[in-house]
Amino acid sequence: MMRKWLTSSFLVVLSTVLISCQGNADESASADNTDDNEEEKIEKAEDEENKEESSSDNQSDTSSEEEDENKEEKSLPDGTLQQGDQKKAVETVEQALKKLGYDHLTVDQSYEKETATAIRDFQAQQRDLVNDGIYGPDTKRYMQMALNNNLTFEPGSGKLKEPEENEQQENQNDDSDERNDSNEQSDERTQHNSNNESDQNKSDDKSKQSNSGNNNDQDGSSDDSNQNDSNSGSDQNNSTPVVSNPSKLLVLVNKNSKLPGDYVPQPLVTPDVRFPFEEDLPKKLMRPVAANALEKLFAAGDQAGLNLYALSGYRSYDRQEAIFASNVERYGSEEKANEVSAHAGESEHQTGLTMDVTSPKVDFGLTVEFGQTKEGQWLKQHASDYGFIIRYPKGKKNITGYQYEPWHLRYVGKEAAQAIDSQGITLEKYLGAI
Ligand code: DAL
Ligand code: ZN
Repeated sequence: MMRKWLTSSFLVVLSTVLISCQGNADESASADNTDDNEEEKIEKAEDEENKEESSSDNQSDTSSEEEDENKEEKSLPDGTLQQGDQKKAVETVEQALKKLGYDHLTVDQSYEKETATAIRDFQAQQRDLVNDGIYGPDTKRYMQMALNNNLTFEPGSGKLKEPEENEQQENQNDDSDERNDSNEQSDERTQHNSNNESDQNKSDDKSKQSNSGNNNDQDGSSDDSNQNDSNSGSDQNNSTPVVSNPSKLLVLVNKNSKLPGDYVPQPLVTPDVRFPFEEDLPKKLMRPVAANALEKLFAAGDQAGLNLYALSGYRSYDRQEAIFASNVERYGSEEKANEVSAHAGESEHQTGLTMDVTSPKVDFGLTVEFGQTKEGQWLKQHASDYGFIIRYPKGKKNITGYQYEPWHLRYVGKEAAQAIDSQGITLEKYLGAI
């Protein structure tokens, strides 16, 4: 049974996004339109659902009896549920799954294999969900969208694959090495890249590239050089495996896993946040799901009295290639450049899920000193609440391949971000890639 529920309000939002989309014509030729439309639907439906969620408290007093009944059916539990759990909350999830078409499910307050399988089937049909059979905040959000008729899916048709997070959960005990590294703070010093931008920053005078020479778009400074470097150094770019799922929210992009050269995320939009320059440059762009989250992060930062600025988001493969070449010149060798800057295809900036952020206190630069500012400290504490991780944490160069970058935010969704943050691990570890 195919379920197609698209509300008219959803379509209105969809068209708004299409109008605001600022993808580069010259860099978007290879986009897969079918997938893109699907992603757009999901992201906009999510937006709609969030609005509904935030206003649901106000509505409760005025609901009719029928609405109350619906509301009760649609009220999904918070938190995480997984196989083995037995509680009332499981029953609510099971009821919801039944309502969504998993008719055979037994509603028994017990999260058994059949519940996990139904959840996995549902997750497998949502590109941005991890297919792990665990009910968590992200799965809740999508189920809520489905209950609100804002999602297209077909019970039983999910392509089930092995959970990606199992290894990560099994490997949690191996984290002691990573945690011990966090003491390595003393060697931090600011290093600068400047004037390396061949095209974009020519028009970036307003970006306050001060005499301090801060790196404004290159992600490059080198201060972890004494660390064990198992994941960095040699140039393996040509032989680096190419990911088959570049648009997946949890895509792993690093020195061992690169994006296709022609991958351009679609759509890309400009988040409504502060930038230290006015031009409409591609580096303002992000995928909508990340742009929405960044806006929320910045709004919370404003509330906390911070002065955050977004500096560099999406970068095309070609642009990263130019940046890397420029860093080779600057650092004298590919190997040195690759300690601080990614080869084309190996930069997360190409995913559209990343934004480098900064503040006036560090002259709008990308420098390790940012980590000591009020903004940097706050981000470390709160980025995960909005689905972002500090992708290159202090002392993890042996795993991530790069030095500490307190400015480089990667969107992975709240569930993954909170798990990564609370366990003090890297995305590599979370995905079981090490
Ligand atoms: N500095 C990060 C690793 C990049 O170049 O994407
Ligand atoms: Zn970055």
